[in-house]
Amino acid sequence: MQNLDEFTVTDETLRQMAGTANPRLKQIGEAAVKHMHAFAREVNLTPEEWLLGIQFLTEVGQKCSPLRQEFILLSDVLGLSAVVNALHDKKARELGSQSSLLGPFYREGVAVMPMGSQIVEQPTAEEIVVWGKVTDNDGAALANALIQIWQTSERGLYDLQERNGESMDMRGNFLTGQDGAYHFRSVRPLGYSIPMDGPVGEMVMMQHRHGMRPSHIHCLIGAEGYRELVTALYFGDDPNIDSDTVFGVSRSLVVEAREDPASPVPGLRSVHYDFRLAKAAAGDSGRVGADPTKMMKAAE
Ligand code: BEZ
Ligand code: FE
Repeated sequence: MQNLDEFTVTDETLRQMAGTANPRLKQIGEAAVKHMHAFAREVNLTPEEWLLGIQFLTEVGQKCSPLRQEFILLSDVLGLSAVVNALHDKKARELGSQSSLLGPFYREGVAVMPMGSQIVEQPTAEEIVVWGKVTDNDGAALANALIQIWQTSERGLYDLQERNGESMDMRGNFLTGQDGAYHFRSVRPLGYSIPMDGPVGEMVMMQHRHGMRPSHIHCLIGAEGYRELVTALYFGDDPNIDSDTVFGVSRSLVVEAREDPASPVPGLRSVHYDFRLAKAAAGDSGRVGADPTKMMKAAE
């Protein structure tokens, strides 16, 4: 007969789970149980607090929709996504450009645009150019690399927020030329608040955090045989550059828009960034997160 206490219940749980066939799933499940039990013991969790936690996670789930992924947001504000990204970068066989958060606003199915296109339908702020090369780790040009770009408008909103996803805007996909070069026009995106009208926002406010992300442009870059790179370029003069609510900024990803005679459109201020892709191991992907629309479909 079982006679379990707050310590031995951990061993018994692990014993019952021991038949998990997939070794990686077994490892993750066992570690999750050990850490959850240790956490409850450490804080001496009460039944009321346990229930509050369950209610919070229930609300997080209920807030998810085809246009909103509240669980990714929770992972982001708790720093978990940043930890996963950093671990992912360390696992690479060679160093590429650093990763950053995919965030909840990535969308698939954006059309490939001619090189140099303006990705904002109706720009109402100063136009800028973003340009550079995609190379391998030795600096050799990667032709035909797919660069997917998405960002907020000069008002700090994604198309999914301004027009409920009815049209694609502030997004563009580009294929690099033979020399690995790319360039596109945009406007400088405004830094913005993460979505605060849900349980995660409520938690962030209770923690007296500002909830802001510094101005950035998201980039997802893929080329055959290379690790897919999920990253973002951050404008260094944003007031929140040192206090990103979701911990996505790395020094190597900080840029400025400046006058540069070498830019392909010299009349406009430009951001110059060369992306380096690391060689892929089998089955490797740089992606952390996914298109929320696709995720909800998969869950149905
Ligand atoms: C974003 O950069 O799009 C983002 C990332 C995490 C939370 C909210 C937004
Ligand atoms: Fe973003």
